[in-house]
Amino acid sequence: MVRVVILGQGFVASIFASGLEKVKAGKMEPYGVPMADELPIKIREVEIVGSYDVDASKVGKDLYDVVRRYDPEAPESLKGITVRKGIHLRSLRNLPIKATGLDDEMTLKEAVEHLIGEWKELKPDVFVNVCTTEAFHMFQSREELEKAIEEDDREKLTATQVYVYAAAKYAKEVGGAAFVNAIPTLIANSPVFVELAKESNLVVFGDDGATGATPLTADVLSHLAQRNRYVLDVAQFNIGGNNDFLALTDKERNKSKEFTKSSIVKDLLGYDAPHYIKPTGFLEPLSDKKFIAMHIEYVSFNGAHDELVITGRINDSPALAGLLVDLVRLGKMAVEKKEFGTVYDVNAFYMKNPGPNERPNIPRIIAHEKARMWAGLEPKWL
Ligand SMILES: NC(=O)c1ccc[n+]([C@@H]2O[C@H](COP(=O)([O-])OP(=O)(O)OC[C@H]3O[C@@H](n4cnc5c(N)ncnc54)[C@H](O)[C@@H]3O)[C@@H](O)[C@H]2O)c1
Repeated sequence: MVRVVILGQGFVASIFASGLEKVKAGKMEPYGVPMADELPIKIREVEIVGSYDVDASKVGKDLYDVVRRYDPEAPESLKGITVRKGIHLRSLRNLPIKATGLDDEMTLKEAVEHLIGEWKELKPDVFVNVCTTEAFHMFQSREELEKAIEEDDREKLTATQVYVYAAAKYAKEVGGAAFVNAIPTLIANSPVFVELAKESNLVVFGDDGATGATPLTADVLSHLAQRNRYVLDVAQFNIGGNNDFLALTDKERNKSKEFTKSSIVKDLLGYDAPHYIKPTGFLEPLSDKKFIAMHIEYVSFNGAHDELVITGRINDSPALAGLLVDLVRLGKMAVEKKEFGTVYDVNAFYMKNPGPNERPNIPRIIAHEKARMWAGLEPKWL
């Protein structure tokens, strides 16, 4: 059994919950789940045991009712779990959503203890973080992080950082847990958090789920690099109409995304071709089905200039939700293997910015084989 607690019951988490239950009930094929039936832990063994949010219209509601806002065909098996109150800090700033959080009622230190108390009852093996994209500060040392919690420094900390801190304390007490950081805040890429995780029996996967146009750009760039074609520039646009895109209209939050997305160019090409890779706009009628476009100019043999133009309309949330079905099971496997800290072989395939921070993005086709081998599966093409 893999007991899962969700942090951020929005679009991605709701499609994850809904699709998971449908697959478990045999009503849906596990398309979009890379290692669907192959992992030793089966999809039917994954169980959502808790959910947290800070949107006042979701906290206290039944999970089924929240999921139904995103998927009218949500299965009734989701009934019976109440969405609990998380820590909001500045998570919903500038968004048209009323925030409510434990931090309105207590200090951050008390909120951490409160969460650990709840988690000891819920007994999660894996936390999945799919909160709203945050603007964040990088902690340089454990002392700085602990001081910020101790002194209730709400300006310095983001909700994700506090959740990881709490999950580490929880993991230390219960012997092990995993934290899947599917958002851009640097956790698996932060030496401070990886060290904390290692010492606390916590596995962290991260950062930022690799979906949408970015992994496709990575594949195309590897294709060009393998053939020694010289890339002149990369332009990649993303326009979407879900709340995540709305949040990204905030400059500071967008910076975090830009950071994770842009690291691929130098990592894969070996040089930093001029590029513009970031979510570019919010257009409500597009809803969750975003518009992506990419344009890559490069030089081929004898100085020939080629151009690639790729466009698409991609359902945003299901792309990440499918990966999460693997990640929660891989998280439990990592705990069983006692690979505390972070696991590059998993991150390299599933994350846009794979931790630890000294490790690069590699072509996904290779990362895919590495992840399979880490999970004890036969490589597919090697
Ligand atoms: N394909 C994808 O959709 C994709 C890919 C990579 C990463 N992500 C990341 O996943 C995250 C979620 O995306 P989404 O489309 O589901 O967004 P969303 O806005 O629909 O959902 C986010 C949810 O988190 C809640 N939340 C915000 N702050 C919180 C906090 N501090 N504690 C608990 N809950 C909190 C919000 O109220 C909301 O319900 C984003 O950070 C995004 O960057 C998404």
